[in-house]
Amino acid sequence: MGRRVAAASDYSYSPAMQAAGDKGLVWDEAALAEFLVNPQAKMPGNKMRFWGLWKSQVDDVVAFMKTFSANQ
Ligand code: HEM
Repeated sequence: MGRRVAAASDYSYSPAMQAAGDKGLVWDEAALAEFLVNPQAKMPGNKMRFWGLWKSQVDDVVAFMKTFSANQ
């Protein structure tokens, strides 16, 4: 949370995710919630093989991920 998309230096991201990061997209609550409902819709071509969460699960996961803030 709070980190730029595709910021881990030791991971080889897909071009789609890398491009989103290069554009300056940051993982805030809104971006994460939108991504987790439908990862391919938010970022077409990313290589996360996961269909997404039900909306009812998103708030819980986003709250959990806030405990891993890049700003701490
Ligand atoms: C609730 C479950 C999940 C959450 C919250 C989640 C979250 C995320 C986030 C935030 C990123 C971006 C990382 C970054 O910008 O550094 C990411 C990338 C990724 N995730 Fe997930 N993920 C989940 C499930 C999964 C599953 C089940 C898989 C594999 C089966 C997976 C595989 C990947 C891969 C391969 C990437 C890199 C994608 C790319 O480079 O295009 N994730 N995930």
